[in-house]
Amino acid sequence: MLTEASADTAVLEVVATSREVSGVVAIEVRVNERLHTLLVDPRTSLLDLLRERLALTGTKKGCDHGQCGACTVHLDGRRVVSCLTMAVQVDGREVTTIEGLTPSGGGLHPMQQAFVDHDALQCGYCTPGQIMAAVGCVLEGHATSTEQIREYMSGNICRCGAYVGIVAAIEDAAPKIIKA
Ligand code: FES
Ligand code: FES
Repeated sequence: MLTEASADTAVLEVVATSREVSGVVAIEVRVNERLHTLLVDPRTSLLDLLRERLALTGTKKGCDHGQCGACTVHLDGRRVVSCLTMAVQVDGREVTTIEGLTPSGGGLHPMQQAFVDHDALQCGYCTPGQIMAAVGCVLEGHATSTEQIREYMSGNICRCGAYVGIVAAIEDAAPKIIKA
């Protein structure tokens, strides 16, 4: 049972929490080499910021719980699941999405081309996340063998089961990315 004093404390905590979540926070983030200054609700995920505020819908929402990898993007050059990254965490940082992977001069990134060449998709829903994770996997130095690729890509689920093509695409693209 709450005493009067502890009830007051509880009320104050609720008020403090509601003030915190009802406010907005100013952030500055560079996305695909373009600088954005935004006011965000502190509860917004990076995934929702990208899709709902910046209309970058290439990044997909699968589970929204960090379990499927569909929402993978690069944050300061490292792969992250954007559904578990809060928008306020990217203040002052650099985000690259699948839209930003395509070379500015046109054409496809070597990993995108390899996914096409190896038929590494069926419905395509997981593909942007697979490609962003695959590039991250190569740049981390975790694509030196088939087994290593399978291990370091295991966070990206493909419900269509296109894994054989995905691994083949990464093996094909890795030397081209490392050489570039
Ligand atoms: S949507 Fe982010 S891991 Fe599934
Ligand atoms: S291609 Fe359909 S979920 Fe991967």
